[in-house]
Amino acid sequence: MQTSSSHLETRAVHGGMAGVRESGSHVPVIDFSTTNPLGDVESGGASYEELATGHDLGDGRSAVYQRLWQPGVARFEESLAGLEGTEGAVAFASGMAALAATLIATASAGRPHVVAVRPLYGGTDHVLASGLLGTEVTWTDTAGIAAAVRPETGLVVVETPANPTLELVDIRAVADAAGDVPLLVDNTFATPVLQRPVEHGATLVLHSATKYLGGHGDVMGGVVAGDQAWVERLRQVRALTGGLLHPMAAYLLHRGLRTLPLRVRAQQATAALLAERLLTHPAVAHVRYPGLPGQDPSGLLGRQLEGAGSIIAIELAGGYAAAARFTESCELITHAVSLGGVDSLVQHPASLTHRPVAGEAKPGAGIVRLAIGLEHIDDLTDDLMSALDRAAELDCLDSAPNEFAERELIEEH
Ligand SMILES: Cc1ncc(COP(=O)(O)O)c(C=O)c1O
Repeated sequence: MQTSSSHLETRAVHGGMAGVRESGSHVPVIDFSTTNPLGDVESGGASYEELATGHDLGDGRSAVYQRLWQPGVARFEESLAGLEGTEGAVAFASGMAALAATLIATASAGRPHVVAVRPLYGGTDHVLASGLLGTEVTWTDTAGIAAAVRPETGLVVVETPANPTLELVDIRAVADAAGDVPLLVDNTFATPVLQRPVEHGATLVLHSATKYLGGHGDVMGGVVAGDQAWVERLRQVRALTGGLLHPMAAYLLHRGLRTLPLRVRAQQATAALLAERLLTHPAVAHVRYPGLPGQDPSGLLGRQLEGAGSIIAIELAGGYAAAARFTESCELITHAVSLGGVDSLVQHPASLTHRPVAGEAKPGAGIVRLAIGLEHIDDLTDDLMSALDRAAELDCLDSAPNEFAERELIEEH
């Protein structure tokens, strides 16, 4: 069954399922074939030509080779595109592979200049700053986008809510400032359940599918959603560079989408309450969560973003030492990178995910990022409060200076 329901929950459950029921199955069968039988030589060659240049698999055509087309990947892509409201989507082995393909497509089209707004995920910041893929970046704030755009600008990149400090970007305002330049929005934190950037003028929507889309911490993937012309360009890059999503990963991601609305909203409900509770602890200097008073000055909640999500950044009053003690003292919450899964995680961005980010853009040393999962709120509260008590025990001024903190993590406060 295929659905065009106006309800996101129904599309999440039934998207990408065309032909499954008719085939006698209840869920898609995973096809691991790396190669596919060809009919006659003429039509085999024609299929190859079509797929290698990014076109859809034609009716009755052979998929030829897994690097060109994989049916389970196509199902995941179709379902995700249905949630984001785009003409299509192209899936990759990771979020970074998805970004890399977009940058390669941008640079190879002869417009290698990228305008980007910080903060961004550390890996995104790193690949843009390094120019590794032939792009050149201009960093700016949202107000500076129009002035930063040049004739050779091929892409504007923003992330909202941003990793790790949850700043919000007004997508419509940025799209207007970008003019004809394609705008890529990293929607990993919000997911299409809370925000659909294309409705606000974005051209491309990127996800680290490793996070909420998969949702269980057991599959890596990335995806870019956009119009048909971008889909074809990105498929061509994928076919030529090989950053493929494995059929098993595609199956898990497609399955993950079916419970995405439920998970995102339940995790968000817990996070909203926890953000308020965290504010009450004396070891906490600041809680960054878009749902808290004063943290959405442009009024984007409700207009662009349906809810504040389930990532919280807290800033410890005791700086790096307190942040480290807090992170290491969580017991139920795992000290690990990543986010968006059913179990809660905690990490210290400045020393981990945002380690490669240049000094002036690096998150503060006292900031810790929490990714809230599906555990009971009382258990999470107990774990967080006792870890904060442990952090508060530290007298940071008396504690031995930490070389890393001294060298790289200059406190802003
Ligand atoms: C917002 C955001 N974008 C992109 C990525 C990169 O995705 P991946 O780790 O799947 O390559 C991440 C990873 O943490 C992320 O948080």
